[in-house]
Amino acid sequence: MDKKNIDWSNLGFGYIPTEKRYVSNYKDGAWDEGTLTSDANVVINECAGVLQYAQTIFEGMKAYTTEDGHIVTFRPDLNAKRMVDSARRLEMPAFPEDRFVEAVKQVVEANAAYVPPYGSGATLYIRPYMFGSNPVIGVKPADEYQFRVFSTPVGPYFKGGAKPITIRVCDFDRAAPHGTGHIKAGLNYAMSLHAIMSAHEEGYDENMYLDAATRTKVEETGGANFIFVTKDNKVVTPKSDTILPSITRRSLLYVAEKYLGLEVEEREVYLDEVKDFAECGLCGTAAVISPVGKVVDHGRDICFQSGMDEMGPITKKLYDTLTGIQMGQIEAPEGWICQIC
Ligand code: PLP
Ligand code: COI
Repeated sequence: MDKKNIDWSNLGFGYIPTEKRYVSNYKDGAWDEGTLTSDANVVINECAGVLQYAQTIFEGMKAYTTEDGHIVTFRPDLNAKRMVDSARRLEMPAFPEDRFVEAVKQVVEANAAYVPPYGSGATLYIRPYMFGSNPVIGVKPADEYQFRVFSTPVGPYFKGGAKPITIRVCDFDRAAPHGTGHIKAGLNYAMSLHAIMSAHEEGYDENMYLDAATRTKVEETGGANFIFVTKDNKVVTPKSDTILPSITRRSLLYVAEKYLGLEVEEREVYLDEVKDFAECGLCGTAAVISPVGKVVDHGRDICFQSGMDEMGPITKKLYDTLTGIQMGQIEAPEGWICQIC
């Protein structure tokens, strides 16, 4: 199979349509058999539940070309499961987990020419999503839904790739206690748009959100969880019911402990103690691990000793081990790698 003529090494994180996407419709209480289509456009009624009351959820995952030339995805079963959790919270029907994984495989295989080559630094980003598609005018869940999966080749989420970024402590909240912060719903991202635009206007790359109840604890950013490294090399991640349970973060904790022999801790992290950490990173499918060099808290600079030039040493080890597993250079734990072709 010939790869598309794309400048893989210079891709940013943007949308490039690929040839095929998957679609399945839910009507009268059941999902249809689903199919691949070439049509990238979605046509829905003006009063569709998604347009009026934002009834939409999504996932984000990647396909990689391994060193030996296979195409794989990383822990797709966990994305399938998280999407079921998101669906339940928004009163949407679950898309069966086995069918989710099957749909992802079909999309990746059909777009194999768009999966960036090994070593290019790019990957194929996969976006499964689901939305209420029939007219809804009173505030209630839709009766009909569409589940779709599309893919697009991407480069680094933050310009500059592995270069440390600067973030600010945000005055807006992302998620309320007992709200929807723990699921992957479009509404969580809509309400973060003003915060990210104002962060960018002030020269910051991202926002550090605090817990809405006390505004003393670190939550996450608009699109990634935090990992911190203490001065004695312990890996610490914030524990909260109102952050997205990142698959990357869960995988990194395992890697830190089992592959690198580091102590790990998932616990509440107070803003006051951030200054004491040696390294900080943002982790997620899109972000991979993006190092943070500086957090600005209302004019007070919190600088990590890892600095603004490169990733800290533990962050780098975590990054190399995780991406090594994803690209097939390092043996993966049982069930982490799903080979597509
Ligand atoms: N937190 C938020 C708000 C996200 O949007 C994402 C991206 O999916 C993550 C964390 C990281 O999650 P994952 O590692 O499963 O991609
Ligand atoms: C992902 O990492 O897959 C996400 O969904 C984050 C998004 C901000 C691009």
